[in-house]
Amino acid sequence: NELRIFCPATIANVTCGFDVLGLCLDNVGDEMVIRKTDKGEVSITRIEGQDLPLEAEKNVAGVSAMAMLKALGSKQGFEIEIYKKIKPGSGIGSSAASAAGAVFGINKLLGEPFTAKELLPFAMEGEKLASGALHADNVAPALLGGFSLVRSYEPLDVIKLHTPGALFAAVIHPQIEVKTADARSVLKHSVPLKKAIQQWGNMGGLVSGLYTEDYELIARSLHDVIIEPLRSLLIPKFDDVKRAALEAGALGGGISGSGPSIFALCKGQANAAEVAESMAGIYADAGIDFDVHVSGI
Ligand code: HSE
Repeated sequence: NELRIFCPATIANVTCGFDVLGLCLDNVGDEMVIRKTDKGEVSITRIEGQDLPLEAEKNVAGVSAMAMLKALGSKQGFEIEIYKKIKPGSGIGSSAASAAGAVFGINKLLGEPFTAKELLPFAMEGEKLASGALHADNVAPALLGGFSLVRSYEPLDVIKLHTPGALFAAVIHPQIEVKTADARSVLKHSVPLKKAIQQWGNMGGLVSGLYTEDYELIARSLHDVIIEPLRSLLIPKFDDVKRAALEAGALGGGISGSGPSIFALCKGQANAAEVAESMAGIYADAGIDFDVHVSGI
């Protein structure tokens, strides 16, 4: 009647896949404890690590849980404890971890009435509360693991992609907060055809590279010519950090989700550690506080 779960951090967009591509980090994330109660409602009883709303209607975990129970017509009550390690506004899917964790845990405790993919619309309700946008590129990899592609939003069609075994991520978070809603407000609503052509060429190349485990092709494809030029202005030393990652041997990288975290994909854990150190060096030299992670996918 009680579960303790790991709720993974995720990297959305992965450069060329704005709102449609995401990946799941296997060693960075929150923990949640979920237990059945006979109170007939969802309550958030404890949040440690961050100052977030305890009212279920204002909390992404609560909103996602209630959307799921409503769809089931269930009056079962649940208590949720959230132990946050992912900082909100860091760009590695803090709200998605809580939204996905809540529906994943409750689904398990109810005997899995839904498949992981069927849980996505409920977790997306939590994302909507957090950012105002119903994007699935964090909750999909959080629930499915590895790389996920949102082929279509209407109707929702999510595909789990192949993840090459040697792929690791280095992620650095300068200690500022960028709200996803703010990072979305700087975007333009139309894209010049020339840039769209580059972006979907890279997107196809990246997906092909994942399946064929062609690390050179992955490296050639990791570019974002549409979103990064606008959002990188919100991130301290973005160009220097990205350059340091590439010089240290990263395959490529860019803004993690809506930022300010910057990620690099690397072949092998040892290289990811070197890349993380190089990126960290830029912030250390500039006197900017940061967190840094190296993770499998
Ligand atoms: N695709 C979303 C965005 C992810 O970039 O706004 C937010 O984490």
